[in-house]
Amino acid sequence: MKKFIASFVLVISSLCFTHFGSQLCHAEEAESRRGKAGANSVFNVMDFGARGSSPAVDTKAFLAAWGAACKVNGGVVLVPSGHTFTILPVEFVGSNCQPNVAFQVDGSLSSPSRSDWGPRSTDYWICFNGSAKGLSIRGAGSVDGKGRTWWPASPSDDVNQELMQGNRPHVILVVYSNNVTISGITVTNSPRMHIFIYGCHQVEVSNVKVSSPGNSPNTDGIHVSNTQHVRIHHSNISCGDDCVSIQTGCDDIRVYNVHCNPGHGYSIGGLGERGSAAEVSNVFVTDSTVMGADSLNGVRIKTWQGGSGYVRNVTFSNIQVSQVGRAIVIDQYYREETGAVKTENSAVGISGVTYENITGTYRSASIVLDCSGDNQGCRDITIRGVISLRPTDPGAIVKPHCSNAHGHVLARNPTPPLAGCLW
Ligand SMILES: *[C@@H]1O[C@H](CO)[C@@H](O)[C@H](O)[C@H]1NC(C)=O
Ligand SMILES: *[C@@H]1O[C@H](CO)[C@@H](O)[C@H](O)[C@H]1NC(C)=O
Ligand SMILES: *[C@@H]1O[C@H](CO)[C@@H](O)[C@H](O)[C@H]1NC(C)=O
Ligand SMILES: *[C@@H]1O[C@H](CO)[C@@H](O)[C@H](O)[C@H]1NC(C)=O
Ligand SMILES: *[C@@H]1O[C@H](CO)[C@@H](O)[C@H](O)[C@H]1NC(C)=O
Repeated sequence: MKKFIASFVLVISSLCFTHFGSQLCHAEEAESRRGKAGANSVFNVMDFGARGSSPAVDTKAFLAAWGAACKVNGGVVLVPSGHTFTILPVEFVGSNCQPNVAFQVDGSLSSPSRSDWGPRSTDYWICFNGSAKGLSIRGAGSVDGKGRTWWPASPSDDVNQELMQGNRPHVILVVYSNNVTISGITVTNSPRMHIFIYGCHQVEVSNVKVSSPGNSPNTDGIHVSNTQHVRIHHSNISCGDDCVSIQTGCDDIRVYNVHCNPGHGYSIGGLGERGSAAEVSNVFVTDSTVMGADSLNGVRIKTWQGGSGYVRNVTFSNIQVSQVGRAIVIDQYYREETGAVKTENSAVGISGVTYENITGTYRSASIVLDCSGDNQGCRDITIRGVISLRPTDPGAIVKPHCSNAHGHVLARNPTPPLAGCLW
């Protein structure tokens, strides 16, 4: 609409140059200025008192810019390039905003170091909450979570992993929002998840870069929960946990042209923890890679024993792996505590999973389908196309491990051979 007005004004002004009197032309110029590329809808945080020089903390200016942008249809909060802004944990509430508010990061955003967070009551650093009529987070800039100040120095330092994990913030949390696009930005060194999406509809993440070390704990790249209609594509993710993690309540999730290096791959679950019900459907992961000697898995579905619900209609196709720990994994006995026993009472049912064209190298296992022994098991699994998985150490071929997995192998001459894997 704005583009339309702009070109209309352009036509009128060139017309007025030749045909109309100057009186009319002044009116048109004024009209033109008002409509100029929506300049009135851009709210630069510098104009709201942000300094963009550490150690100044600019949280108030950001909130003020958001408040102003929120009142305008298509309002843009601009975080300009050439500056690094430090902000404390902040929630940008979108519930009373006009449609399509944008948060444009061209400069750098930096979290305070852990010691400067002060008393903390949030599990996020930057939260966007309730933008029901469109939200865009975009720009060529970067967002740094200063994770190093949060991660345990070594895993053995981490006396209580579970508590530690619960205690570390996500960098970007988007909740209860619709028509969300996240594009262009770089997110680095998250204390926990880099981009966490919860309770949203229609989300597109593209051209995003996530970067943190392969040994940083629980640092999922993009973590999606209770969200429907998601597209994640043309993005590069390096992190210490799942590159893309799909949790309960997700439906219609497509992931394509994503590079995971390193990371724990593309993962559904863990689902059904502590007897809970979980539902995941219509997941399509294609034309993507998982690489690096720190990468634990290629593609994985994991469920806890004791849960209920389903995972159905999932396809992993054209996935290239390199040096990953395990290439293809279904684990219905997922457990984080060591020494937990296989209980085999029930699990989240898994059905309609297709693996097509999965190729590359693994370090410890090619295919592990460890399905629950109860009447759920894994059903309607299809393995087809080109399956070519070879150990990085040619002497260390490990036979596929398949138990209680039902379905069909349609791949011709797969490597490794899959005779007796599915039945
Ligand atoms: C979704 O958001 C984009 C950009 O913010 C906007 O241009 C588009 O109109 C929105 N679509 C709907 C259906 O709200
Ligand atoms: C989002 O807003 C809702 C409604 O105000 C509130 O209940 C919830 O705690 C907020 N969530 C976060 C993560 O801030
Ligand atoms: C991802 O990496 C590829 C190859 O290095 C590069 O061409 C592309 O621009 C990168 N994309 C992003 C969003 O970082
Ligand atoms: C299965 O998922 C794919 C990809 O999301 C979708 O195109 C297809 O319609 C789904 N099939 C069924 C039977 O729902
Ligand atoms: C899998 O690979 C085969 C052989 O290269 C190709 O014909 C087929 O289209 C591929 N499948 C998908 C889903 O792209």
